[in-house]
Amino acid sequence: MPYLVEIAPSILAADFACLGDGIRAVEKGGATLLHVDVMDGHFVPNISIGVPVVASLRKATRLPLDVHLMIENPEHYIPLFAEAGADMISVHQEATPHLNRALTMIREHGCKPGAVINPATPVSMLSEVLGSLDHVLVMSVNPGFGGQKFIPGALEKIRQLKSARERYNLSFRIEVDGGVGPENVTELVRSGAEILVAGTSIFHTQDPAEAVRTLKQMAGGALAQRA
Ligand code: DX5
Ligand code: ZN
Repeated sequence: MPYLVEIAPSILAADFACLGDGIRAVEKGGATLLHVDVMDGHFVPNISIGVPVVASLRKATRLPLDVHLMIENPEHYIPLFAEAGADMISVHQEATPHLNRALTMIREHGCKPGAVINPATPVSMLSEVLGSLDHVLVMSVNPGFGGQKFIPGALEKIRQLKSARERYNLSFRIEVDGGVGPENVTELVRSGAEILVAGTSIFHTQDPAEAVRTLKQMAGGALAQRA
């Protein structure tokens, strides 16, 4: 099955006072998803944005919203984020003892379900749910903050997921989040990543549209080598 590589700008790194401008810039640069980080100050040591912001984003862009829940009790909030306009919803394996239930809920609410693993969590923790996932999100930093350094162990996890997908004839996409930028895009795509989340390397530049364009070009080049 052919996989495209998508760039998912993380708005966590954007200027929230003029979020609309930031979104228009990444749309212009060719972003095909918008990554939305939801943090509750419990599951991760930081607070970001919630349901009303997702509802506003839904009105401000036609890009699919990729909602990354870094919250405790995610089951409680899945219906609210789905209602607010999320297209993809990812829950952390570490955040719920009922991952299967959470993923089923996401699908029942009309969204694409994803499971996320922290740097300390092995891919094997997802073995029972791989068949019911739209995407697996591999954290390449410890979640909670933008602008952290990429943890290279993510590359091996991406390779493991790619080979599991082939071995079991599955179709989930592989997403990576944290410290992603021009310095590691080629290796990430060669390893098997198909959705690249990037905050700082896009929004903390002079020209976010150009930053998306560059990442996309690099990813496209690496994908051609992979094929
Ligand atoms: C971290 C978030 C990331 C973050 C990535 O907890 O899940 O999406 O915004 O930011 P950068 O690209 O700056 O590492
Ligand atoms: Zn994220």
